[in-house]
Amino acid sequence: MDQLRDLRNYIEWLEERKSLIRIREELSPILEIPTFLRKLMYSKGPSVIFEKVKGFDNWRIVGNLFPNLDTISSFLSVDNLEEVGFRMIQPLILPIPYKTFDKIKTLGDLTKMSSYLPKKTNKAAFTENVIEGNDNPLDKIPFFKTWPKDGGRYITFGMVITLENEKTVNMGVYRVMILDGNKGIIHWQIHKRGAHVHLNALENKKDEIPVAISIGSDPGTMLASVSPVPYPIDKALFAGIIRNKGIELYELNNGVLVPANSEIVIEGRVLANQLLEEGPFGDHWGYYDKPIEKYPLLVVDRVYLRDDPIYYGTVVGLPPLEDAVIGKAIEKIFKPIMQTIIPEIVDVNYPVEGVFQGMIIVSIKKRYPGQAKKVMNALWGIGQSSLTKIIIVVDHDIDPNDIGKVIWAISSNVNPENDVLIIKGSHSDALDPSNLFPSFGSKMGIDATRKLPEEREGKVWPEIVSEDENVYRKIEEIFGNYLKKDKNLF
Ligand SMILES: Cc1cc2nc3c(=O)[nH]c(=O)nc-3n(C[C@H](O)[C@H](O)[C@H](O)COP(=O)(O)O)c2cc1C
Repeated sequence: MDQLRDLRNYIEWLEERKSLIRIREELSPILEIPTFLRKLMYSKGPSVIFEKVKGFDNWRIVGNLFPNLDTISSFLSVDNLEEVGFRMIQPLILPIPYKTFDKIKTLGDLTKMSSYLPKKTNKAAFTENVIEGNDNPLDKIPFFKTWPKDGGRYITFGMVITLENEKTVNMGVYRVMILDGNKGIIHWQIHKRGAHVHLNALENKKDEIPVAISIGSDPGTMLASVSPVPYPIDKALFAGIIRNKGIELYELNNGVLVPANSEIVIEGRVLANQLLEEGPFGDHWGYYDKPIEKYPLLVVDRVYLRDDPIYYGTVVGLPPLEDAVIGKAIEKIFKPIMQTIIPEIVDVNYPVEGVFQGMIIVSIKKRYPGQAKKVMNALWGIGQSSLTKIIIVVDHDIDPNDIGKVIWAISSNVNPENDVLIIKGSHSDALDPSNLFPSFGSKMGIDATRKLPEEREGKVWPEIVSEDENVYRKIEEIFGNYLKKDKNLF
């Protein structure tokens, strides 16, 4: 089974491995299916297909396609998601065996990159049905209303595709608020690549930006789309790296290239100078966004659908939901890349309740004074990790996933007046509810490493207690005997 061929193959694959439930009751995409999805995600349930969608005959809806890390590793056919990240850097970081030149494979590995390249095709199943813009195609798709006070229906997992500088494919998952049958508002936040395309258009006095939105593709391509891949890396190429195989792209009338395996494709234009109020929307921080901000208008020229189309939507809200699993997968895929750029990083944890941009805990192998602050600044200096509000740095022997140990390190190692770094007036995640202004707040770094003498006026850090080995071995044996005898007491 090629689970990476398209959404339908993925659904069959999920069903075969008993990771999919079918819901036969008729449910509405307005609040009912979103509420079901949240319940399912909070109970760590499997993927789901809703077979009867109220008001939308012939449609099915799938949800929770990224239910856990095990499913993600399995559909990518890797034991460990870090392998995917290594794929990108391995040819460059493998030591070259100079004494046996004949065995040099590293540059050979580079040529593997060519198999990740996207290919163009003129066949795409989504061309089976075309609805023109003036036939109000958006009214015919079961977009969700996810929270009672949301300002309308939303596309919640649409891959918004633009061509950057007319040559690089960008695909980012940005929510789209539906205004009517052929209009919407695209919520590309200021730090994201879609917004940069918008700014470039404004600078070059272009009123219209050709755009496409693909909904429902293979899970590897969808994962690539949410991944924080910096410009100018082509997202379609990145999808090939994640999938270990290049994707096929189909060129629409407006010149935008979309995954040929999409279920639904919306073709249109963003009117760069027409900004409208977007929201309210109950977002991934668990709040309705405030203040309501303005984002650009999308005009839909046509919509393409496969026969008996399947809609995929997700829901966000109080963490952890499906986006938390996606965030964890991204953490693991990007860890080797992060370690290549910041080599002292031993391990990293984006706690799921920290909604990805809220908090990172990172452990480092510390060698010199001030290194924890260097790591914070490095993280605040690269790509989307720069949006992180709170960074906690611990020593290499603390597992950042062991929150109890992290609290011990913070409580015992931090002298607040020296070890807490506050950056006032800083850029921040657009939706962070604590922002002073949209996308503008502050940051905090906590250096919870043990301090070197230079970091504490020459004073030597106390020694961590440890057992006397001989005594410990003796006691361990005696203790073990009691454990065996009186199991119920322990
Ligand atoms: C479910 C979900 C919804 C998202 N919605 C938005 C959104 O509305 N606006 C946005 O800028 N980013 C949103 N994101 C995050 C982006 O998809 C993510 O930052 C991605 O890396 C952006 O791609 P880019 O770097 O190509 O811009 C969302 C992510 C997920 C998982």
